[in-house]
Amino acid sequence: MSDKPEKFIDENGLRLDGRRVDEIRPMKMEIGVLSRADGSCYLEWGKNKVLAAVYGPRELHPRRLQKADSVLIRYRYNMAAFSVEDRIRPGPSRRSIEISKVSREAFEPVVLTHLYPGAVIDVFAEVLQADAGTRTAAINAACVALADAGIPMKGLVSACAVGKVDGQLVLDLNKPEDNYGDADIPMAMTSDGEITLVQMDGDVTPEEFKKAIEMCKEGCRQIMEIQKETLRSKFTKLEDVDISDD
Ligand code: CDP
Repeated sequence: MSDKPEKFIDENGLRLDGRRVDEIRPMKMEIGVLSRADGSCYLEWGKNKVLAAVYGPRELHPRRLQKADSVLIRYRYNMAAFSVEDRIRPGPSRRSIEISKVSREAFEPVVLTHLYPGAVIDVFAEVLQADAGTRTAAINAACVALADAGIPMKGLVSACAVGKVDGQLVLDLNKPEDNYGDADIPMAMTSDGEITLVQMDGDVTPEEFKKAIEMCKEGCRQIMEIQKETLRSKFTKLEDVDISDD
């Protein structure tokens, strides 16, 4: 028997979790949570819990893998075995390899890669609890972790998904909307609105697709504010430290 809800949006225009169609789930981030990593970020977004860690830039071994004119960025998206209802088999899967590739490509355009030829930056995104939208959650956390590591970037990248349920576009899908909806379009974009990731599962019309981009832009704008606020929180704390001699 399917658990598909009869309706996703009620007569007041509210979704099953009480959100409006253009509202993102509550998000909070904490920066610098891992002392061994050069940069780190813990993110909670709805019921998603993701930890991102950045190591580097550091010299890449073996040397034959080094790029002469830029840093090599490696990104590993991983779901913990206990992060979903059915246990996830540990180790890379087709899904995690694909997500790792597209996520790396989502933030690579903002990293000033030419500054560290021969070096590597390793980004790890560990999903501790999954509830739809984990690839976008991981990108949001990874980007803050990169900034925390002091990696020079042109700006931040934020990510969010738009989907379609009951014939309407909705921002930031929850689990039932992701499972039983008609479309799921995760996107990532820079602060200038340059799109660095688009994937699409399901069907939307060209008009709906254009509207989905606009909705996603607004979602990403809100997420970027939270990312910036998270970064500011660290640097404000640093300013508070009294470094005078007396
Ligand atoms: O998480 P995201 O939306 O980026 O990726 P997805 O492949 O569309 O997966 C949607 C959701 O399905 C995940 O967030 C998990 O909650 C769940 N999932 C799962 O239960 N088992 C898997 N092997 C993969 C995903």
